[in-house]
Amino acid sequence: MILVTGATGNTGRALLGELHARGAGPLRALTRDAARSASLAAFPAGVEAVEGDFEEPESLKRALDGVRSLFLVSRLGPDAEVVAAARQAGVEHVVLVSSITAQTHPHLGPAQENLAVERLLKDSGMAWTILRPTQFASNALMWAASIRDGTPIRAPYADTGLPTIHPADIASVARVALTEPSHCGRTYALTGPQPISARGQVEAIGTALGRRTPLPFVEISRQEAYEQMAAVFGEEAADAVLDVTGGDVNDELLAVRDTVPHITGTPARPFHQWARENVASFH
Ligand SMILES: NC(=O)c1ccc[n+]([C@@H]2O[C@H](COP(=O)([O-])OP(=O)(O)OC[C@H]3O[C@@H](n4cnc5c(N)ncnc54)[C@H](OP(=O)(O)O)[C@@H]3O)[C@@H](O)[C@H]2O)c1
Repeated sequence: MILVTGATGNTGRALLGELHARGAGPLRALTRDAARSASLAAFPAGVEAVEGDFEEPESLKRALDGVRSLFLVSRLGPDAEVVAAARQAGVEHVVLVSSITAQTHPHLGPAQENLAVERLLKDSGMAWTILRPTQFASNALMWAASIRDGTPIRAPYADTGLPTIHPADIASVARVALTEPSHCGRTYALTGPQPISARGQVEAIGTALGRRTPLPFVEISRQEAYEQMAAVFGEEAADAVLDVTGGDVNDELLAVRDTVPHITGTPARPFHQWARENVASFH
């Protein structure tokens, strides 16, 4: 049995689809609200939806019962208790979604949290594979309301190109790691196939929408972005996000890596593919 957490999210949904398509069952999908997931038709036929909340590790017992392999999206709750619950349930192998910032910006608070859960997992006695993806293409969904309303997208560091990754590529790597034992004990930094800036992403979405004129875009200062983000995510998280999206980037973060094609055997998906596949979100 494979349990996919974050199963209604960008990566988990794609992972369930891949595992199901390749007959890698039985499959179980964790969600906090199975009725909502069913109404969204989020899971492929035959996938068992099970409710559980990382914030209440006791609630994970049923979900973890009989599970041998676990796809674990980190930092959604008390990771120490979640890892302990997996170990107690007899899980043999965990594929963990961490972040590339664990190696590019280990001084930042969120990266330290990622490093802490990586250490917990390594010390757990279970076999592990750690995925460290860079910025997700799906972060562009934060612009969907502006694009639908026709108001300008406002973003800082407009021309900093990062090798943004399609969540389906994280899922593809996870599928391989979950089904082939040779990936145990490995840590993989994952990126997309080319750098793309915020301005370039907006252009790609405009093209996917078939717009003849560019979507309105305004570059804003770090301070303006900070004030908006700190109000929602808190000051430390806002500073960290601004550093890793342009304010304090480094060669490690900017590097395009061949890990995705190397592990999956197929080229990494470019941002414009993600934009085409998700165009409905911007209509
Ligand atoms: N975005 C980036 O650029 C980036 C970069 C590197 C790493 N990451 C990591 O990627 C992860 C996000 O992945 P994603 O984009 O695939 O997810 P997502 O689309 O943001 O969806 C979040 C998922 O987590 C589940 N979830 C939320 N709170 C939960 C809780 N308390 N208990 C159990 N499940 C919970 C949700 O399920 P239900 O609502 O159905 O319960 C949903 O499936 C984060 O851990 C983040 O640190 C993101």
